[in-house]
Amino acid sequence: MIYSRIVGTGSYLPHNAVTNADLERRMDTSDEWIRSRTGIRQRYLAQEGETSSSLALEASRAAIASAGIDAGEIDLIIVATSTPDYIFPSTACLLQAKLGIKGCPAFDVQAVCSGFVYALSTADMFIRSGQHRCALVVGAEVFSRILDWNDRGTCVLFGDGAGAVILKADQKPGIIASALHADGAHVGILSVPGSICNGRVTGDPFLRMDGPAVFKFAVRVLDEVARETLGKCGLQVGDVDWLIPHQANLRILESTAKRLGLPPEKLIVTVDMHGNTSAASVPLALDTAVRDGRIRSGHKVMLQAVGGGFTWGAALVQM
Ligand code: ACO
Repeated sequence: MIYSRIVGTGSYLPHNAVTNADLERRMDTSDEWIRSRTGIRQRYLAQEGETSSSLALEASRAAIASAGIDAGEIDLIIVATSTPDYIFPSTACLLQAKLGIKGCPAFDVQAVCSGFVYALSTADMFIRSGQHRCALVVGAEVFSRILDWNDRGTCVLFGDGAGAVILKADQKPGIIASALHADGAHVGILSVPGSICNGRVTGDPFLRMDGPAVFKFAVRVLDEVARETLGKCGLQVGDVDWLIPHQANLRILESTAKRLGLPPEKLIVTVDMHGNTSAASVPLALDTAVRDGRIRSGHKVMLQAVGGGFTWGAALVQM
């Protein structure tokens, strides 16, 4: 039996840190409002010239180094992003060229904030099929470019960044089980309802959100999908060493852990440091907790996400 295992992690944040106090100077908001509603203290915003592929490149280099592999070993690249550099080619193809790799398949996955969990699960299936042996899976976003900076209800919530893992074929399970879902009926509560047509933007090119509706939906499905994933492999909530939900909002994270019956000490929180980085948030949090020594070899980690679509999913991973 072939399984896939995470053998390296990496992440990258742009240098431009923007605190809540910085936002107070730009708009009618307050550190107190942002922290009490979301837990966010700061976010990092990409500067001119920085793109999803350039952030992905730095995160990928860190993951490649931590895996101790040569970039040439990578035989599959999947990038999760909703803010690609171009309409085409894919950000994965741009990343492939920047890494100096040729020939292996490279494609993007678009599942908004669930993108990394979708991409990880997809790469796991490619590896389990025996067709590929070493995948680079990345979540990378420049969400600051699709925010309406006049809408204080959304722009304070998000940031830019990237996270990556190297997934290799192994005799022992790394990705133990996963579950993916979508329900397009909920397009109205979170979307960027615009596109390019005949050289012009049509519709609305900014992120629009019904915050309370998203909150309720997210907490419900994160609980359900974690239990579903555990059910697939016959494990219990008590078997989970660490919970890494999509880093959207501290209150969503804490509610999810509480509903699952997991103590707060098992919850990895990085949203305070970088805001909601959409598809980058789960691998950013994973890399942070691996590097600071909390997540160690053998630990079981529940990765889970929910995002526009709506999409949601989880992967139970043994490190
Ligand atoms: N600063 C100050 N005041 C603000 C701000 C701001 N940045 N934004 C909104 N407000 C005001 C509103 O204008 C409103 O004022 P009013 O009552 O005078 O009209 C008031 O604050 C609304 O406050 P609350 O009702 O307390 O807001 P709520 O508790 O619903 O919190 C929030 C809003 C934080 C968006 C919440 O609904 C939420 O967390 N939703 C989840 C959204 C989320 O995480 N989305 C991430 C993207 S989706 C994903 O990743 C899955």
